[in-house]
Amino acid sequence: MSAAEIVVEAKNLQRIYEVRRGLFRPNAQLRAVGDISFRLERGRTLAVVGESGCGKSTLARMVALIEKPTAGQLTLVGHDAVSPPSERRRELRQAVQLVFQNPYGSLNPRKKVAAVLEDPLAINTTLGKAERAAKAREMLARVGLRPEHANRYPHMFSGGQRQRIAIARALMLEPRLVVADEPVSALDVSIQAQVLNLLADLQAELGLAYLFISHDLGVVRHIAHDVLVMYLGHAVEQGPKARIFERPLHPYTQALLASTPGLSSQRIVLKGELPSPLSPPPGCVFSTRCPHVTQRCRDERPVLRELDERRVACHYAERFLEGAPVVRADLPSAPPFIAPVAMNP
Ligand SMILES: Nc1ncnc2c1ncn2[C@@H]1O[C@H](COP(=O)(O)OP(=O)(O)O)[C@@H](O)[C@H]1O
Ligand code: SF4
Ligand SMILES: [Mg+2]
Repeated sequence: MSAAEIVVEAKNLQRIYEVRRGLFRPNAQLRAVGDISFRLERGRTLAVVGESGCGKSTLARMVALIEKPTAGQLTLVGHDAVSPPSERRRELRQAVQLVFQNPYGSLNPRKKVAAVLEDPLAINTTLGKAERAAKAREMLARVGLRPEHANRYPHMFSGGQRQRIAIARALMLEPRLVVADEPVSALDVSIQAQVLNLLADLQAELGLAYLFISHDLGVVRHIAHDVLVMYLGHAVEQGPKARIFERPLHPYTQALLASTPGLSSQRIVLKGELPSPLSPPPGCVFSTRCPHVTQRCRDERPVLRELDERRVACHYAERFLEGAPVVRADLPSAPPFIAPVAMNP
């Protein structure tokens, strides 16, 4: 396998939800993921960052094949993953596994760890009982747990250990891609680093590709090779981590970095609520909170374009390239948040 082997590629992925607004009103369309494209190679990590509600988990579910995109293409290990032929489905489902934020909720409390790890093998392979048990023990060691842990129940473990078990379970079928949706957000900071180190070690050993979802740029800095910054379902900036952390060109990325302790000397306080995804601003999605907004921003949506080794969706990104200071400004207040009335299951 070559180093640049592409594990997953997304082109213009979109997910629209129909949202009920009441008995006598037509359904509204909520664009949870607008138009996302990326490519992820073997052994690499793409981190998806953005505030709560920007569409990270929806993107994760689509890439993990739990939810179908409304539009766009998704190619996994070289095959169409949106509508694969039935004989290919199992292979694709095994190629991508998901790790959730909450290691308490994602493990069945009535199953011993041995069963948690062996069940995927029993369902998807022809391995016998002894072989399944041996593989489970091997995987426990890989994630830093001991053989005797196999006979315990999930509640007997700490949060960090439970997330190790969830990671072990995800790896039992030898996936090529792991989608991790806020995998360390529920853990203490000291434990977070251990789990991030484990993920990095497993990636180096097994060549895994990670789609790593996080709202925390401090975490992303440790694990990502590439970064995709989302706002209201859209990619506003995406590219190599070093470019984006050293010289963020989108005002939203600048604000996110400035709000993360230790990452920036700037102080940008984002005022105003995130607009409702049911009524996004007509021009630039960030225009209601951007300190640099102009009338052009309100009228015309900036396209994602190449600049300085990354892609950025801002009419004025060149200004930040020239090192213009990013001034802190009081932001205009955003329109009131309109919560969706009801959601489709
Ligand atoms: N099943 C659903 N039906 C309707 N709206 C949904 C559904 N799932 C998510 N949404 C909406 O899509 C948007 C993105 O949600 P999500 O992907 O969970 O964001 P994040 O993970 O970044 O917090 C939110 O506005 C959320 O309310
Ligand atoms: S296009 Fe305008 S509103 Fe949008 S991020 Fe750039 S400066 Fe701000
Ligand atoms: Mg989420």
